[in-house]
Amino acid sequence: MIKAKEIKTVAIVGTGVIGAGWAARCLHRGIDVVATDPYEGAEQNIREVIKNADKALQRVINVPEDKKGTFRFTANLEEAVKDADYIQESAPENEEIKIPLLSDIDRFARPDAIIGSSTSGLLPTRLQSKMKHRERFVVAHPFNPVYLLPLVEVVGGEKTLQESVDNAAEFYELIGMKPLKVRTEIEGFLADRLLEALWREILWLVNDDVATTKELDDAIIYGAGLRWAFMGTNLTYWLAGGKKGMHHFMKQFGPALKLPWTKLEAPELTDELIEKMVEGTDEQSDGVDFRELEQLRDNCIVSIMEALEEYQYASGKVLQEDRERQKKRLEL
Ligand SMILES: NC(=O)c1ccc[n+]([C@@H]2O[C@H](COP(=O)([O-])OP(=O)(O)OC[C@H]3O[C@@H](n4cnc5c(N)ncnc54)[C@H](O)[C@@H]3O)[C@@H](O)[C@H]2O)c1
Repeated sequence: MIKAKEIKTVAIVGTGVIGAGWAARCLHRGIDVVATDPYEGAEQNIREVIKNADKALQRVINVPEDKKGTFRFTANLEEAVKDADYIQESAPENEEIKIPLLSDIDRFARPDAIIGSSTSGLLPTRLQSKMKHRERFVVAHPFNPVYLLPLVEVVGGEKTLQESVDNAAEFYELIGMKPLKVRTEIEGFLADRLLEALWREILWLVNDDVATTKELDDAIIYGAGLRWAFMGTNLTYWLAGGKKGMHHFMKQFGPALKLPWTKLEAPELTDELIEKMVEGTDEQSDGVDFRELEQLRDNCIVSIMEALEEYQYASGKVLQEDRERQKKRLEL
């Protein structure tokens, strides 16, 4: 099986939001990319995303054109994957599409290549079920925008070799990411289970006319959101318990957990609720062009990571290591 350091060419299968983000991240670290997607307009879309991502990526690491990876697009799956060292599948979140697609990728790919899927929550054991070489398959779940956010959850299925998980994780580290190996195969993995709990609650509060989408976003960005960029809920609550720590915190706030505050099941996605969510968020984006808002988001992310770099903490530490690694590469 290929070693992380030997990975020079990555095939991107499915070039929507996530696939294009992977391409931009890899190219900036000098990895060659071959992308494929069966739909018309796909090539234009991925080229646009790569161009747009470049502004923020240049802030992360200033890479001259000749030190970036080369980019090629083909509509032909076999051509895209046959010489790749690593294949990242980012097709729609649907087993009926992904299972046969992964089986085709497996058939066309070199036997030593690793195959990763960007799925947000489908189980790797099911996704690898029609592959012949199941041992080289991993789930590698990233976060949007993939070219900036470091987290990638790496999960193996029943037939995945530990070596594949380890090599994949090491490769993601080499391209500036923070791989989180998920030890137990579970739907939604770790991060999306947490995010979905919040999302379900948002849908209820909008559905019941308790708050607008903007009020709920305000409830996050001026409070917990600021902390979440560098300290998760658990360590934050440890601090919130004062010097007596988590024990005191749990005793004090534990009883509230018994109150029926939150709802575990999402509300019915009625036309009315969908319309409220769409109207609310359209109003929030206030007529700003999509690409413009995307760039504002990108700039804010880079600035936060740079601020944390000063403390060599959380994503700031990942950024610092990424910069050092890439500086060495550029000096060679
Ligand atoms: N959007 C997110 O925030 C996010 C975050 C993490 C993971 N993911 C996961 O990434 C994957 C892709 O999501 P997305 O948001 O980029 O979706 P998307 O709809 O933006 O892109 C999917 C792309 O796959 C292409 N496609 C369809 N059938 C294909 C096939 N047979 N072969 C190759 N390409 C095919 C489509 O043309 C499209 O360009 C999903 O599994 C999703 O769960 C999404």
